[in-house]
Amino acid sequence: MDKEILLQTKHLSVHFPLKKETLFQKRKCVQAVSDVSLTIYKGETFGLVGESGCGKSTLADTTLGFLRPTSGEVLFCGERLDKRNKTAFKVQRSRMQKIFQDPASSLNPRFTVQDAVSEPLRIRGGISRAQLSEKTVEMLRLVGLSEADATRYVTEFSGGQQQRIAIARALILKPEYLVCDEPVSALDVSVHAQILNLLMDLQSQLGGAYLFISHNLAAVRKLCDRVAILYMGKVVEYGNAEKIFAAPAHPYTRALIAAVPEMRAGNAPQVPVLHGDIASPIDPPPGCRFAPRCPMANGTCAQTPCDLQPIEPDHFAACPYV
Ligand SMILES: Nc1ncnc2c1ncn2[C@@H]1O[C@H](COP(=O)(O)OP(=O)(O)OP(=O)(O)O)[C@@H](O)[C@H]1O
Ligand SMILES: [Mg+2]
Repeated sequence: MDKEILLQTKHLSVHFPLKKETLFQKRKCVQAVSDVSLTIYKGETFGLVGESGCGKSTLADTTLGFLRPTSGEVLFCGERLDKRNKTAFKVQRSRMQKIFQDPASSLNPRFTVQDAVSEPLRIRGGISRAQLSEKTVEMLRLVGLSEADATRYVTEFSGGQQQRIAIARALILKPEYLVCDEPVSALDVSVHAQILNLLMDLQSQLGGAYLFISHNLAAVRKLCDRVAILYMGKVVEYGNAEKIFAAPAHPYTRALIAAVPEMRAGNAPQVPVLHGDIASPIDPPPGCRFAPRCPMANGTCAQTPCDLQPIEPDHFAACPYV
């Protein structure tokens, strides 16, 4: 059976214009996301991977309609997000939610757990007080909290528990699309596995597709069905997670995987570990953006644009030398 498409980006670019330093200077811009075309299917977990500053959050926030594309499109269930009127957009947005990296700053400290978790339902309206509190308690139980926790303030909880509250809040409307933007990286390592397992249990109970952003490649490999590897706003490798992690094609993906000792396959060729930081995405070169750090690059790479090429079914890489 064919998988149903939930969300698509088509040639999506998001640029942030910078202030001019002098009156006559040409305006520069940060090309945070450049020409990204991705498809996320209903019910799947899609991973977004790449170094800090490569555009993961910008891409995710644009798929949620928090940021407007500079060019290109975002389609949710086949309809363009930016072409909808305010009311239709509000309805659409209630079908999409986000879990933030830091639960403490994503929850209002003056709210009780009941207020925080039930707020999306209150805003949507059309529900009695009794139903509201019943649904809140049901959600709290699903995330491993108790009915007695409902009247306590969110600030009384630990980071891991606050993330459970944020998850209950995000899932109370049973969204079809949930962005998890580094959902455990601000938490103590001891609770990482608990929160990730909770997210996966809830996905199998409630359905919905996840866009899962993480620096933890082992977690991405374990949890994601499909992935996109981003480098300076461009997708360098894309497709089925198992295929990509088993046989990474792009030199950047290989280097990322080579940096995680437990992920290196026994017979995999030795790949040099990446040195230096990701370059600035302000006016990048026209060709491959990874060229300055790439062990395979030749003189033309930085000048020659390279689109994603098929490697095998549902596996693409943007390098002519793979
Ligand atoms: N509002 C903004 N104005 C100007 N530049 C921005 C803005 N938001 C993001 N950027 C820049 O866009 C690029 C991508 O940022 P983004 O936050 O999407 O990266 P990220 O991959 O999520 O990084 P991290 O892993 O650190 O969260 C960065 O160079 C960042 O400095
Ligand atoms: Mg980010």
